[in-house]
Amino acid sequence: MLLLQLFAVLSFLFQTCIPTCQASPIDRLSEKEVEDRLDALLQSRASYKNLPPLEAYPSPESRTLKPGSIPEYVAKYAPLVFLYSEEKYLPYDIEEYVSHFRPTWRNGTVIDLPGKDRNDPLYKNQVLHLSDLENLPQSTHEELVFLSSLSDFDVDPEWITGVHNKPNYYNGEIKDAPVTLIVTDKGKGWVDAYWFFFYSFNLGPFVMGFGPFGDHIGDWEHCLVRFYKGEPVIIWMSAHGGGGAYFYDHMEKETLDSSGIAVGNGVQPVIFSARGTHANYPSTGQHSHDLPYSILSDFTDRGGLWNTALNYLAYTYTPADDNLSGEAAGMELSLANGSHPFRESKYGKWLEYNGAWGDPKLEPEDPRQHWSPFEWKYIDGPTGPLTKNLVRTSPCQRAKWWNFWNGCNVRRYIQYGQGVFDQEGNNSCGSLYVHFKNKWVRKLVEVVTWGGWVCFSIDLVFG
Ligand SMILES: *[C@@H]1O[C@H](CO)[C@@H](O)[C@H](O)[C@H]1NC(C)=O
Ligand SMILES: *[C@@H]1O[C@H](CO)[C@@H](O)[C@H](O)[C@H]1NC(C)=O
Ligand SMILES: *[C@@H]1O[C@H](CO)[C@@H](O)[C@H](O)[C@H]1NC(C)=O
Ligand SMILES: *[C@@H]1O[C@H](CO)[C@@H](O)[C@H](O)[C@H]1NC(C)=O
Repeated sequence: MLLLQLFAVLSFLFQTCIPTCQASPIDRLSEKEVEDRLDALLQSRASYKNLPPLEAYPSPESRTLKPGSIPEYVAKYAPLVFLYSEEKYLPYDIEEYVSHFRPTWRNGTVIDLPGKDRNDPLYKNQVLHLSDLENLPQSTHEELVFLSSLSDFDVDPEWITGVHNKPNYYNGEIKDAPVTLIVTDKGKGWVDAYWFFFYSFNLGPFVMGFGPFGDHIGDWEHCLVRFYKGEPVIIWMSAHGGGGAYFYDHMEKETLDSSGIAVGNGVQPVIFSARGTHANYPSTGQHSHDLPYSILSDFTDRGGLWNTALNYLAYTYTPADDNLSGEAAGMELSLANGSHPFRESKYGKWLEYNGAWGDPKLEPEDPRQHWSPFEWKYIDGPTGPLTKNLVRTSPCQRAKWWNFWNGCNVRRYIQYGQGVFDQEGNNSCGSLYVHFKNKWVRKLVEVVTWGGWVCFSIDLVFG
């Protein structure tokens, strides 16, 4: 009961005090200041509510983008990704990746492609290309198409680890692994830029010594940068089928100087890719997810800094509108100009492939398969970018099972890892404590919140 009250009081503080504590009248400022102030306000929770609503299927009149053309500001605010310092499974080039696979059904039956001979067991002289993917059958709920590997992935070959794809120390470029940028119009000045990162392998977590479980071949992660009239407002990043949304204003931002050192005060939002799972977080440290008591955690740190703006494929996308007929209704996927000329036209509309990007879950009899307390060791490969709900108006891809109210909180406070591991900066309670000046009061708050566990729960609910 006491706990509940405390919970209520603290959440009240979170909800009401902090925004108003920071508010100040804008009418006494000069015009330039007013403008700056308005820009800042645009990025705060209160005024976000006053912006026009986003449209999943904007009408031609409310669109601001032309198909195939991407505004310059999108690359300017491209995310910078800190990979884990000892990451074993690095980003990979999707064109090179698919050459190690052939398309099959779940039962292993090979799917014929024009110009490919299915009787050649290893596709030796007729490697699969990205440009072949648009010719594959469309997957349905019942029948998924898979890319099945031609050689054993379990022995960590180069095409699984991407061992050479460390970011360049000077400019953060990964020369041999482009990211995929898909830009969609959300109407009335809203533009969503989805940056998709591809890794060949997802190493699942260990739980209490068991594991790994939930490994899969092929791993698509992404980060959404949501713009209003050319200004970044919200950043969302994927993590385990869910993810976190933050106001751009509150994210860490960097610019690389000429020697490749991050100098701070830049404009590109910084995110952190977790060891093995490549789930994304806005901070370093230990991040628990899905299970209580940090049983299941991701770890992030400042390993190589990957500047996604230096190597990307670019597309614009207009989702199909079921209520319209004829050409107006169709999905429109347009090739745009990414960082390197002619790649998009060479690869074609591979994004239309909606099957899995890796092998199906291994059979229980397979010696590489194991059962862990929660899940099999090897599960199905993931489906591609266009299956990740790009029509969303909420910044979140979808809600997690425990999120019964279906909320998507846009957070203001960046939580630094709750654990003792690699802790850096302030966690959510840390941001609260600083509002108590007296150190004894602070100590008291720390004790009654069980050193942050209450804060963690509040944060989970209210963000
Ligand atoms: C992309 O670049 C090419 C070559 O520079 C140019 O001809 C083309 O118009 C550009 N496309 C768009 C959509 O900007
Ligand atoms: C495998 O699955 C596909 C698609 O469901 C089906 O057409 C094919 O006949 C199956 N092959 C075998 C050998 O069962
Ligand atoms: C189609 O029309 C229905 C009924 O008017 C509406 O609820 C739905 O949101 C519309 N769908 C799209 C994609 O606009
Ligand atoms: C933690 O918060 C305090 C007070 O807001 C601030 O002065 C300090 O710079 C923060 N530390 C980090 C590492 O962000």
